[in-house]
Amino acid sequence: MTTPLLEVRDLKKGYRLEGRPPLEILHGIGFQLAPGECRPVCGPSGAGKSTLLSLLGGLEEADGGEIFWKGEKISGQSRSQWANWRRGAIGFIFQSYHLLPELTVEENVRLPAMLAGVHVGERWEDLLDQVGMTLRRDHLPGELSGGEQQRVAVARALILEPDLILADEPTGNLDGTSASAVLDLLVRMVRERQKSLLLVTHDESVAAKVGTPLRLLDGRLA
Ligand SMILES: Nc1ncnc2c1ncn2[C@@H]1O[C@H](COP(=O)(O)OP(=O)(O)OP(=O)(O)O)[C@@H](O)[C@H]1O
Ligand SMILES: [Mg+2]
Repeated sequence: MTTPLLEVRDLKKGYRLEGRPPLEILHGIGFQLAPGECRPVCGPSGAGKSTLLSLLGGLEEADGGEIFWKGEKISGQSRSQWANWRRGAIGFIFQSYHLLPELTVEENVRLPAMLAGVHVGERWEDLLDQVGMTLRRDHLPGELSGGEQQRVAVARALILEPDLILADEPTGNLDGTSASAVLDLLVRMVRERQKSLLLVTHDESVAAKVGTPLRLLDGRLA
């Protein structure tokens, strides 16, 4: 059996707010993701889908459980070790694009490589071409439509060739036509590169395009 790309064991997360009863969000999540595997993460609003992605991307810390990457434990590391690992391992795509407004399309796509000090050659041009944004490379995000901004975010997430893409409702703010165009593009680019994808959605038709769902319900995987 090949080693899973990602393995999550008994992951727990809650929020304790002063003067209010504790909120238990994830009660012990466990799953594996093989290299090249794509799975949607489904579940009702408030089920903990974004929380799960934040834990996997190291944006938040779990209360318990373990995360393994290619067989090595990565949970429990310091923030800076985690940030170093994440940079090359994971590409994040957010629902609301999160492009830097003062940087051009080209600069946004190249930024992760610059921050990591990695030479990516012409890859940024290829990616911009593949997402159909070459002619807009000098534009600022504010001059682009939602679907265009999300296509730039797809290119940015792939610039360091990460093994895993985490996408949190990447088409949530788009109309039907742009949403399916961006989704098809993302899924195609991920599959062509044999990358893995976890994509949060509550839309079953979106989920069906990605793979077999991980279903979150009441803090557990159904
Ligand atoms: N910082 C926080 N403090 C307190 N509660 C939080 C915090 N972040 C998230 N929560 C709670 O955790 C629960 C899960 O939130 P999460 O954003 O993961 O849900 P979701 O499944 O992504 O929902 P949606 O489909 O609406 O995006 C919610 O009830 C939310 O209110
Ligand atoms: Mg969410």
